[in-house]
Amino acid sequence: MGRKEWARQDDRERALALVREGRPLTAEEITVVKQCYSGIGGLVASGWGGGSFFTPPTVVSFVQELVQLRENSGAILEASCGSGSFFENVDPRRCTGIEQSVESYTIARACYPEARIIRSEAEQFFPYGKGGEFDGAFQYVLGNPPFGLKKRWQGEMTAGREQTILSEWIFLEIAFRAVKPGGAIAMIVPDGLLANRASHYLRKWLMGRCFIRAVISLPTETFYHASTSVKTSVLYLQRFPVGVTKEMVGDYRIFMAIVEDIGWDSRGRATGKCDLKKVLDTYLAFRDGNEDIVDLVQPEFPDPTTEPLPVLPLEEATPANVEPQNKCFIQMALF
Ligand SMILES: C[S@@+](CC[C@H](N)C(=O)[O-])C[C@H]1O[C@@H](n2cnc3c(N)ncnc32)[C@H](O)[C@@H]1O
Repeated sequence: MGRKEWARQDDRERALALVREGRPLTAEEITVVKQCYSGIGGLVASGWGGGSFFTPPTVVSFVQELVQLRENSGAILEASCGSGSFFENVDPRRCTGIEQSVESYTIARACYPEARIIRSEAEQFFPYGKGGEFDGAFQYVLGNPPFGLKKRWQGEMTAGREQTILSEWIFLEIAFRAVKPGGAIAMIVPDGLLANRASHYLRKWLMGRCFIRAVISLPTETFYHASTSVKTSVLYLQRFPVGVTKEMVGDYRIFMAIVEDIGWDSRGRATGKCDLKKVLDTYLAFRDGNEDIVDLVQPEFPDPTTEPLPVLPLEEATPANVEPQNKCFIQMALF
């Protein structure tokens, strides 16, 4: 390990020492843990195999804003949540995380005590053909899955046969199954998935079930702080809303952009520039001018799995109050 790796190792030990005290942490201690813990990716031999490379906060915020993640707008799943990077900036009570590593799970629990965080392999929650508590349960599935691990999987993608496939494929099927119709999936994926011949089947599988809303290329410096220069992109999908099938979908526009400057260079030195804001603003303008997208956005009802629907009292059910999205509230009052 070089000097940088030793410094990361020290910070990691500091964060672990705090959470291992086993008591609720103060807000200041949580800040220290979030700043110090950056995953084991690249620190120890097993780090590479487990793929523990955490997403930097600026990229997390970018992904959250890309999918217009608003407070109170539905449940969020991160199926390989690491230390919980994607739970930052949002109400943790809306967040469910799954994480297989005890170490990362312990950190996530300590930093986001109000989120639902489960220590498990995510695959356990998605048994083939049985349906599970997480099927179609989330408005958003976000994340950065483990890349390049060869794993046994029996799923819809493999037509119910048990096969060995790459972990990122499995996590995309998990995301598709977990998100509600019309809901958003935004994942950081290795570029091979977008371009390799061998991934053609996966791309076709996804395009038959989801709109591709955006593909945003990230530079190789993005994961500098986690000691990897893997080339990645943000893939933003929208699961077809109810009533839309692949046969009905013709040509549509997809937003594509290249982030050249992420805010630091290949040696981790601040560049004083970052393209993420410009890309985000350009995407939002594209989205606002794109009728295909606006037409398909689902009404923003509170998520019934986490919050009871408000009931409009009958005396208030005047025509003036009958906005399209209020209709179901009035119906409930009548029952
Ligand atoms: C690339 S890291 C990203 C972590 C986090 N999503 C982030 O963006 O900061 C992938 C994470 O997936 C976890 N992981 C690997 N296999 C898993 C599985 N089968 N189920 C759940 N988590 C898994 C690893 O322990 C690691 O924390």
